[in-house]
Order: sequence, then structure tokens, then C-alpha cells
Amino acid sequence: MTRTHGARTVLAAKLAPPHETRAGALSAFSDTLQHYRDRCARALDVRLPAADAVPQRLHEAMRYATLDGGKRVRACLVYATGEALGVRLDLLDAPASAIELIHAYSLVHDDLPCMDNDDLRRGKPTCHRAYDEATALLVGDALQTLAFELLANDPTFAVSAEQRVKAVAALAAAAGASGMAGGQAIDLAAVGRQITIENLQDMHARKTGALIRAAVMLGALACERATAKQIAALDGYGRAIGLAFQIVDDILDVEGDTASLGKTAGADKARGKPTYPAVLGLEQAKERASELHAEALASLRPLGDNGAFLAGMAGFIIERTQ
Ligand code: IPE
Ligand code: IPE
Ligand code: MG
Ligand code: MG
Ligand code: MG
Repeated sequence: MTRTHGARTVLAAKLAPPHETRAGALSAFSDTLQHYRDRCARALDVRLPAADAVPQRLHEAMRYATLDGGKRVRACLVYATGEALGVRLDLLDAPASAIELIHAYSLVHDDLPCMDNDDLRRGKPTCHRAYDEATALLVGDALQTLAFELLANDPTFAVSAEQRVKAVAALAAAAGASGMAGGQAIDLAAVGRQITIENLQDMHARKTGALIRAAVMLGALACERATAKQIAALDGYGRAIGLAFQIVDDILDVEGDTASLGKTAGADKARGKPTYPAVLGLEQAKERASELHAEALASLRPLGDNGAFLAGMAGFIIERTQ
């Protein structure tokens, strides 16, 4: 059976009695989310090197940092965007894995003592705590290169050579100096200093927004016949939820608790990190996140019902507590 989110959500709404419409749509949303997460876990498991192959310690640490944890938001966005455009899920396993590998690498390096110096990640000791700093550095290097190897070579990513190259270029740009790595550099340079809201927005768009936007683009690139209008709509959506994601991350650092976050709450303030609540205050930070949520939904309009699950993802990103 072909699975399409838009269709599933609309069908759930049609089948449910009127008073159950929202509950029905919500449960269709969480079923699909879980389905994508499970699929991503299997896709990563078979693509990561075996823990018992040499060099075992590196392989074990790569698996430790990537499997068993994480919301898998970026992989879900790849699957959901692809499905919204009618792409089969098996074509999306490689790009979904690639984006999660880059993300996992970014977290391992972000937690190092020379960066945020964190001890807890996804409810477990950070990679450099569970292993050692040199291993954590190499884990990041190896996860990053594996991501590009998958986009370049994975036989299940059965798209044209042209689309493959575009996917490699999109992920490289999002992960590099103009994207995530550049945003991280701006973040570190801004610790303990005043920062304007324009610079903060730029930093967030790069350090977190770029990869989320790339997740949406990777899903779109798996569709050979996506129109310019669909691509523009999806890119507007990706930009808005990408920025919103980091604003909510900043808010959760203030309002969340360590147990649900799986990482140490209050760490940003303790380290003098530039964040939305620090610059704008909590209320305005929340307002900005809601504005971006509305922008994301407006961007999706050209997709009609096929954008229903992506719309749900925007809500999930805003309302999440972890
Ligand atoms: C945390 O990302 C780091 C940021 C970019 C804000 P996530 O909140 O997506 O982390 P996991 O993958 O669910 O652990
Ligand atoms: C992380 O930002 C961004 C990247 C990992 C690229 P944070 O430093 O706020 O992420 P957390 O809060 O440690 O997950
Ligand atoms: Mg950081
Ligand atoms: Mg951090
Ligand atoms: Mg944070």
C-alpha cells in the first residue's frame, strides 16, 4: 500500500466522528512519526560499521553516539518531504541516515570540552565522557564522511547522478562554514558578549537552521519531478522551522528539566551563551517561535493536503518538551 501522510491524515479525519477529528489526526500523526523513527533506526543500524569490526572502539563509539536516542526530527523531515512529493520510502533511507549522521557528529563535537563541555546527551554520558576526547573527535570525523559516502554511493538512493550531486552539495553547504560549522564558530565567539538580534538570528539559522532546511531539501531532491513552486514552498517551510527549532531549544534550556531533555538544563545561562531568551526575554522568544510556526504553515499552502504531516511537524517542533 502506498503511504501518504496527507492522505492518511485526511482519511483519519474523515473516518472519525466530528468530536474525535483532532484526536484522530493527532494519533495518525504520532503513528507516522513513530513509523519514520523506527525506519530511521533500522536504516542507521545497517549503515553504521559493525561494533565488532576493527577498529572496534571507534565503531562502538560511532554507534553509541548515533543509535538509541534522539528525536530523529531531521530524518522524519526527509521521509515526510519525500512522501509529500510521492517518493517511495525506500529511496529516502540513505538521505535520512546521512542527515542524522551529520547531526550526531555535530552533537558529539558540540559537547566536547573545547566547545560546550557537556556531560549528558540523550540521557547518557556524552561521547567523550563514555569514551575519550580523541575518540569523540574521530567519531565526528567518521560520521561526517559516512554521511557523504551514503549520498554518493548508497544503492538504495536510486536517483539520477545529477540529483545525487545536488544532494551532496546541499548537505555539504549546510554542514560547512556557511552553515552549521560557521554557526558554531559564531556561537563560540559570542559567549559572554552582547549580540544583536540580527546576529543571533543569523547564528541560529546557520548552526541549526541550515541542517533542518537541508533535511527538507534532501527529501525534495529525491523527487526528480518536483516543480520550482513546490521546491520554493518547501524551502520556505524548512527555513522557518529550522530557525524555530533552535529558538525552542533555547527556551527549553530555561524551562525544561534535565530528565526530560536528556541534557543538562540551564547550561546556556551558566555558560553565558547567546540565546533568544537571553536577548529578547522568554515571552518574546516564544512569540518569535509562534510567528515562525505560522510562516512555516503559510509556506506549505501550495502543497495542499500533501503538506499535512509537514504541518504537523512544524507544530511538533514548537510544542515539544524535549
Ligand atoms: C539538539 O538537536 C541540538 C540542536 C541543534 C538544537 P535535537 O534536539 O534534534 O537533538 P536529538 O537528536 O533529539 O538528540
Ligand atoms: C547545537 O546548539 C547546535 C549544533 C549542535 C550544531 P546547542 O549547543 O544549543 O545544542 P544543545 O543544547 O547542546 O543540544
Ligand atoms: Mg552549542
Ligand atoms: Mg550544546
Ligand atoms: Mg541548546
